[in-house]
Amino acid sequence: MARFAEPFKIKMVEPLNMISREEREKALERAGYNPFLLRGDEVYIDLLTDSGTTAMSDNQWAGLMLGDESYAGSRNYYHLCEAVQQITGYQHVIPMHQGRGAEKVLFPLLIQKGQYVLSNWHFDTTRAHVDLAGGIAVDLVTEQAYDTTTPYPFKGNFDVDKLRHAITEKGTENIAFILITVTNNSAGGQPVSMENIREVSAIAKQKGIRVFFDAARYAENAYFIKKREQGYEDKEIIDIVREMFSYGEGFTMSAKKDGLVNIGGLLAFKEDETLFTQARSMTVPMEGFPTYGGLTGRDMEALARGLREGIDEQYLAYRIGQIEYLGTRLEEGGIPFQTPTGGHAVFVDAKKMLPHISAAQFPAQVLANELYLEAGIRGVEIGSFLLGRDAATGEQLESKLELLRLTIPRRVYTNNHMDVIADALIAIKDRAETLTGLEFTYEPPILRHFTARLRPVKTEALSTDICLPS
Ligand code: F0G
Repeated sequence: MARFAEPFKIKMVEPLNMISREEREKALERAGYNPFLLRGDEVYIDLLTDSGTTAMSDNQWAGLMLGDESYAGSRNYYHLCEAVQQITGYQHVIPMHQGRGAEKVLFPLLIQKGQYVLSNWHFDTTRAHVDLAGGIAVDLVTEQAYDTTTPYPFKGNFDVDKLRHAITEKGTENIAFILITVTNNSAGGQPVSMENIREVSAIAKQKGIRVFFDAARYAENAYFIKKREQGYEDKEIIDIVREMFSYGEGFTMSAKKDGLVNIGGLLAFKEDETLFTQARSMTVPMEGFPTYGGLTGRDMEALARGLREGIDEQYLAYRIGQIEYLGTRLEEGGIPFQTPTGGHAVFVDAKKMLPHISAAQFPAQVLANELYLEAGIRGVEIGSFLLGRDAATGEQLESKLELLRLTIPRRVYTNNHMDVIADALIAIKDRAETLTGLEFTYEPPILRHFTARLRPVKTEALSTDICLPS
């Protein structure tokens, strides 16, 4: 890999705090062996999420001083609309406080009770808003996503046969819409190819089903298309973005990712004025007047500028290059992970790294805790602990993948930090077989992974019934 340096210099610094190993042991015990319950100050390198953790540029900070806090018709709203129109080609724009705000406004307008939403993969809150609107979320990702060792270029894709089959099986009239998530967060920040987007959109068109995007990481997806898909190598990122969005009729966006801001979201429509009008009406009671939708004028200015910076090719090369760099270091150290590395994170394969720990004792959570103890690094489990129990039987489900997500904030850490992360995991690998599983001391009934409390199991004998998700 060619050597690259960050395409920025540092104007302001935020000190990091490293507490001692003994203090980390105490903190983790207090947190019930759940890194979500640690205080931020107890963490040295925080890889919990790439959402809202971005460092803004001097240009964005300057924009904050130009906030027009008019309740209606703020000038920053118009700047934001111009940026969205120019970048995505979509005409109708409503600011939202964050991604789930857009889901909350849009989904009830599209879903009738009992209808299905078909996606390559629904993010957790997206699935929750489909449920809340009376719908049923179905994930139809390619099987390649579950094979962490083979480096397929577009592991975020829909399995088009599964999609066709689902449409036939459920009946067109029972499908509310198709949702294309770019990049596919849950599969490992893996991209969706233009070919796949085109095919999904053609199937939808033929059946008269509407297509929307979950566009949280749309710029990273466009960069992967440029680098991995034939025919796009010489295209500008903005042209790839526009082509992607041309295959849908609207998007929800958490702007806390590729929008390069700490808070914000968007709901936008290509040309459907009826839906736009309905969504604007619903925005008023849910988020705020439709020219601010839960954001301050200054937030909208920072976002308008962040959107433009987020499609800069030099920035994207650095961004994706940094994740790749961490992947290369881990590969050299023999750490198994979802290959190739994705757009926003490295997903370490804990099932492979800790094969002696059963799904019921949460191997990726064990690894997350050990990484915190080793070097003060906080990652997040994406596996059976997150998945939960079968609603009907109460049995613990077994996730197909047990992953530790090391999510890299944008423009925040340097490659020296990446080296510290890699060294820590390599040190853990050498004593992996000494690690033991976890059991609950407190298990909340819904979204348990945020607040559950655990403890290391004393014996290997703990048995919990396991069944596979249907
Ligand atoms: N869609 C995707 C693909 C996401 O990854 C997220 C958030 C959302 C929607 C919801 O957006 O947080 O702004 O309301 N993902 C974060 C994460 C929280 O850590 O992956 P939000």
